[in-house]
Amino acid sequence: MKRVITFGTFDVFHLGHLRILQRAKEMGDYLIVGMSTDHLNFSKKGKYPVYSEEERMEIIKSIRYVDEVFYEESLERKGEYLKKYRADILVMGDDWKGKFDVYSSLCQVIYLPRTPSISTTQIIEKIQKPCQ
Ligand code: CTP
Repeated sequence: MKRVITFGTFDVFHLGHLRILQRAKEMGDYLIVGMSTDHLNFSKKGKYPVYSEEERMEIIKSIRYVDEVFYEESLERKGEYLKKYRADILVMGDDWKGKFDVYSSLCQVIYLPRTPSISTTQIIEKIQKPCQ
């Protein structure tokens, strides 16, 4: 039984998020998602997500490909999370390509291509300026 783990904010849940979760699950048997907390987002980007961590958690938990979700409280604790959740494979979108290679001593690290032309940032901009 292969345990797959992935990380992300998953704010304003969209098709790119759904597809990475679907493809991550296909890499193994059990999918664990480390979902970044509101506090972690604020400390890294200087702003809070549109959806609160409770809302994001509820959405991700309800996705059929996802078996388990936990709050990622610190980017520096990735190694600890990989061990705690006994991950065999770490899957990330290729916007992170190379960034997680340091963990290849703990598990297999795979980058999947992002779904083109969609992101949370783009959706927020479109809502703010719908005519452009
Ligand atoms: N992702 C993807 N395809 C997209 C958007 C995101 O495969 N079009 C993946 C990312 O590579 C990551 C996961 O979904 O592994 C969570 O990404 P996240 O940063 O939460 O979403 P984005 O839409 O990229 O958010 P932002 O615009 O704020 O960066």
